[in-house]
Formats: sequence, structure tokens, C-alpha cells
Amino acid sequence: MSDIPTLTVLISGRGSNLVALHAHASNYRIGHVISNTPDALGLSWAAQAGIPHTVVARANYESLTTLKAAILETVRLSQPDIVALAGFMMVLNAEFTEAFKGRLINIHPSLLPKFPGLDTHARALTAGEAEHGATVHFVDAGVDTGLRIAQAVVPVLLGDDEKTLAARTLTVEHALYPWVAGTMARGGIRFTPERVYYDEQALLEARRLSFRVFE
Ligand code: GRF
Repeated sequence: MSDIPTLTVLISGRGSNLVALHAHASNYRIGHVISNTPDALGLSWAAQAGIPHTVVARANYESLTTLKAAILETVRLSQPDIVALAGFMMVLNAEFTEAFKGRLINIHPSLLPKFPGLDTHARALTAGEAEHGATVHFVDAGVDTGLRIAQAVVPVLLGDDEKTLAARTLTVEHALYPWVAGTMARGGIRFTPERVYYDEQALLEARRLSFRVFE
């Protein structure tokens, strides 16, 4: 393991959060990128950026069970301090979430517990929400149910459609995720099964950056 904490990032597609995690990395570096889809855009970006990367694709495995075991093994071999899911479109099993408990995080495009799962922007619009945003949370074996770490909020504006709301949300995701990862990497955010602990610096920064935290 290197001197500075490393992140293994799991992706399935575009990889804009991966790029943001790299561009705004503080206290950590991205050690490895793993994709479950061979043609993920984020994967070609990682290749160009010279970041070690691995494809673990369904087509090469007999079953979902063996695929998930291979993903777990690949993550283990990368020896991460933190595992960050960034648009990783697969539900991990309890063996995985237990193996990286307290070090496994995800970014979800809604203000959880509102709108877990898919189509979050459309659902927020249909529900007539006045505000929307993104949540970084610890991952447990449920779908978007783990302890929340921080949220970035955006307004829902008159005339918004799914596309405009998604774009506004993505912009704040790109600030929120690196901040959470960097703060965890320096030890300013800690997990316990009951709640998340933040140090004084983390609370001050969250206030300055207008991120919601869950003391
Ligand atoms: C983001 O909106 C993230 O919140 C969600 O999936 C999307 C991934 O986008 N989990 P990208 O691949 O990081 O561009």
C-alpha cells in the first residue's frame, strides 16, 4: 500500500464522477478503476490518464454469483483504503459490503431517503419537489439505504425537465464526491454502525461548501 490513501473506483459508464474524483483529489489518489462494462467511457479515460484499470464483465462469467466474486477479488487485489462506487450499476452482495464496511461509499442523485433506485430526476419532478440534489452514503446490502454522509442540494426551477435537473445535480456531485473522499482519507469522517462522525474541520468545511451533513 502506498503512503497516501488510495481509492478504487467502480464504474459502469460515463465516468464523470471518476474524472472529478481524480481532478479534485486531495489526501488520496485513485489507485485502480474497475468497470463491469467493457465499453464504459470512464474506462477509456482511465486508460488515457494512466490509471490501472480492469474490466470484470458479465460475459466472461458463468453466473452473476461468479461475476460478483470476481469483482470482490479484483477490488481486494487493488488494496484500496476506500472503495467508491461512481455510477456502478450493479447491486453488491452482503459479502462485498461486509468486506469493505465503513470504507465503501456511493454517490446517488437524490436527497436520500427520497428517491432511491433509478430515474431520480424524473421522480423528483413528478413529485413536485422544490429541492433536489445528491447524496454520498456508506453502502450496505440494500439499495441506497446505507448511512448518509453528506448531501449537496440544488433548487428545482420552473421549467426544469429531467435533463436540466440532472445537469444541475451532476455539477454539485462533482464537488461533493471528492470532498467526502478527501475528508474520509484524512480521517475527518468516520463510520460506526449507528452514525457517522465528523471532525471539527469537516463540519466547518461542510458549512462553507453548503453541504448537508448528518451529525
Ligand atoms: C451519477 O448521477 C451518480 O450519482 C449515479 O450515476 C451517475 C453516474 O454518472 N450513481 P457518471 O458515470 O459519474 O458520469
